[in-house]
This record gives sequence, structure tokens and C-alpha cells, in this order.
Amino acid sequence: MLFKKPKYVLISLIIWRLISVYIVQTSHVPDEYWQSLEVAHNLAFNYGHLTWEWKSMIRSYIYPFLISVLYKILATLNLDSVNMLTTIPRIFQAALSGYADYRFYLWTKNKLTVFCLAINWYWYYCATRTLTNTLETSLTIIALSVFPWRKNKRNTSNDTKFLWILGFICAIRPTIIIPWIPLCLYHIFSSTKSIILLFFQYTGIVIFTLTYSTIIDTYCYGELIITPLEFFRLNIINNIADFYGKHHLLWYFFVGLPVISGLFAIYLPFVGYEIIKNYRNLTKQLVCLVSILWTIFIYSLLEHKEFRFLLPILPMIIYICTCTPFTNNLMSNKFKKLLIGILILTNILPGIYFSVIHQRGPLDTVKFLEDKLTVENLDKHDIMYLTPCHAFPLYSHIHKNITIKFLTCEPNLHYINNYTDEADEFFQNPSNWLDDNYKNLSLPSLLIVYDNIVNRISGFLKNYKPIVKLFNSHFPQNNYGHYIIVYERIN
Ligand SMILES: *[C@@H]1O[C@H](CO)[C@@H](O)[C@H](O)[C@H]1NC(C)=O
Repeated sequence: MLFKKPKYVLISLIIWRLISVYIVQTSHVPDEYWQSLEVAHNLAFNYGHLTWEWKSMIRSYIYPFLISVLYKILATLNLDSVNMLTTIPRIFQAALSGYADYRFYLWTKNKLTVFCLAINWYWYYCATRTLTNTLETSLTIIALSVFPWRKNKRNTSNDTKFLWILGFICAIRPTIIIPWIPLCLYHIFSSTKSIILLFFQYTGIVIFTLTYSTIIDTYCYGELIITPLEFFRLNIINNIADFYGKHHLLWYFFVGLPVISGLFAIYLPFVGYEIIKNYRNLTKQLVCLVSILWTIFIYSLLEHKEFRFLLPILPMIIYICTCTPFTNNLMSNKFKKLLIGILILTNILPGIYFSVIHQRGPLDTVKFLEDKLTVENLDKHDIMYLTPCHAFPLYSHIHKNITIKFLTCEPNLHYINNYTDEADEFFQNPSNWLDDNYKNLSLPSLLIVYDNIVNRISGFLKNYKPIVKLFNSHFPQNNYGHYIIVYERIN
């Protein structure tokens, strides 16, 4: 058998993730560019755009800093083409995700479990993205694989390796602590070490983590800054996140979980019942179940909900769904082939659709623009996106220092009454907005719009001719469209 040796499992999983760098050609969320590549680009090449999070200094530079080191190396080797700048970070992320899948295999020692994780469409869709949530998820899996589970009363392992990894992930984004709280409590209560010793270990790791993260942030921001403090001050006290979308209280149960975990969402309650009934024999599963439910509970209380927030607990969901006696029985009877078939189908179909078709417009558009802007015509061009804010990646995917404008959507940081952001103001009355804003200004040479807005700005578009129309999505959200159209000014 091919998978007899762990080495081959590792190689296959890494290859599986590397292939997906090329299969996944769509955008998921703005953060995969705006919180990583754009910031790294700005750091490495001294031009670019930083969103308000970076101006308010609430984000840690660790992740963009690491990417910017890659960028600097590429620039030194004269290899800083757009293709390299966008692909190399994804290749690194893919290798890390593949390694994490392998650690998951070593931890669970169950081929079905690792197969379910490898084939899960949402993890496939995200595993190579430069999203903090992706990095968090791979590192969470690795930390889980070194987590000191109590084997029996005498044989206890007291390894704190997982805490170093956890410290690193928390430094990048403090909210990852939520799923880890039950695990840390389990660690503290099941450990044979004295509480004093544990206290010093935890405190030591926290201090060490804060030290290096503060050094990196201070270096990148150019002033002494402790980003977790700023983050909590702004997000928790001011409730800024509410600004970006509100969902129903039970959204994670009825939409989030079924979408990212597919059939497991239906299966989970049965497994949960079994775990609670047999909790003495299924301690690991029980702790994971508590962590999953606790995380969903806390996230449900926050107004701002997204699929990707569930990503770090997805491996645990797959673990408890596939590593119980109930599943073993199910898998040893005649339905096994049918179940595996359904599992593959329900993941492959959405996987291909979302990786190749849905929301492929933004990346195709920036590719088109990058080809169009040559060294010779560069100073003749400037770009304006009349689209919802952050819908397109910016300098990281164009890598040329030209003027790029877009409609902004900063939250109400200055407590203005009846605040509407620029993008909302534009979409309320596009032609008025253009009249007001472009009365005395020269018109941008390249204009990017979604097709649904074209009729509402036809007057303004008289100065332009369409040069390309690119497919975006069959199901566009508000203010987005089926197609993206690039217009060029008629001189
Ligand atoms: C980029 O362009 C702007 C505006 O033309 C200029 O001020 C800035 O110095 C340029 N930056 C770099 C790194 O070339």
C-alpha cells in the first residue's frame, strides 16, 4: 500500500495542497489580500494602501512581516514579478497546511479522519489562501497534535510545546484563544504538575510572546505599540465589528456549520450524544466537543459572523465525527462505500464550483490590468474602482506604483452622527456622487465597475469605452454583479 509509511502520507498531503494553489482561482474575502499581501507589499516596497485597522494599529504585523521578508528576498533576486508575489506566499501556506494535515494524521492515527479533512471542500478552498484564519487553522492542528492528553493515571505527559505554538497564533490574532480556553483548562486540571509551576510556565510563555510580537510591531509601525491592547480597546469597547454585517443569532448552527462541514453538521448531534454518554472512554472527544460548542456559542453572541471564523474548529469537528465507536461500526458495514461516495460528491462539487467559478472576477480583472499597464504607458494611467470597497486586491497584484482609487468604507471611528461610508453614499445615488466628486477633477483613465451599476451611471460613462467584460459570479451579493467591466477613457 502507498500509505504504509508516514513519509508517503506527508508527501501526498503536501502535493494535494500544492496542486490546489493552481486550482483555487477565486477570491473569498477581502482580508486574504488586505490584511496580509497588501500590508506586506507596503512594508517591502514602500508603496501601497493600508486599511484603517493598520492606521489604528490594532493588527499585529507578524504575518505580513513574514511575507514581506519573502518579498524582500524575491526583490533581491530580481524575481519580484506579480506572479511570484502572489504565488510564493500561497505555496508556503499550502506546504504548511499539508504539513498540518499530516500532523492531524499522526494525532488521530485514523485514515478516514485525515481523508475527510483532506477532502473537505471548505478547507480545500481556504488552505492555500493568505488568510490569518488559514494560518491559525494549520497551527491549531499542529498544536493539537502535540497537546498533552492524559493517557492514564500514571503515564502523564506534561509537554508544554503546544503553548509556544498557541502563543504565536494568539500574537497574530488574539481571538484564537477562544477555542483553546477549554483545552487549556483541561491541561491545567489534568496536569500532574503543581499549580505554581504551571502558573510560571503560562506566564513565561505569555511574556515571551508579548516581547517578540511587540518588537516586530514596534519595528514595523515605527513606534512602541502593543497591538492586542489596541485591538481589545477598539473592538470590544467600541464594538466596531458590528459595522460589518449582522446575522441571526443561530446563523452558525443553521448556515455556518452545514456549509463548511457538510454532512457532518447533521451527524454531529448523534456523535455528541454518544460522546456524552461514554465520556469516560472518550475524553479527547469530549474536550474537543466542549471546545467546539463553546466556540460557536461565543461567536454566536458577536454580531459579525463569517464562515471563516469556524475554520479553526473544523479539524476538531471532523475528528470527533470520525473517531468514535459509532462511526467505526457505521464504516464496517455494507453502507461504507455509499457513505464515502456521498462524502466525496458533497465536497468535490462545491469545491470545484467555488474554487474555479464563483467570484473569479476580481483576480481576472487585476490580471488584465497588470497586463495592460506596461512600463511605457504607466504614467498615462490611473485606476478607479467604482465597486464595493476592498472587492479587489490592489498593489500586491499589480506591483506598479500608479494611482489607484476606490470607494472606502471606514467604520465610524470619529463618532459622526448618521454616518454613511463613501461606498454606501455612492451606491445610494451613483450619478450624484460622481457629479459631486468629479466636478473639477480629471477623470481616471481606467474605470472598473460591476455590470449592475452601468445603467445608473450612463451619463458619466459617455466619456468611456468598455475594453473588457469578465465573469464574476452567478449569485452576486448586493452592489456586486454577474460581470465586471473595465472601461477606458476616450481622450
Ligand atoms: C509612488 O508614487 C508616489 C506618487 O507618485 C510617490 O510619491 C512615491 O514616492 C512613490 N513610491 C515609490 C516607492 O516609488
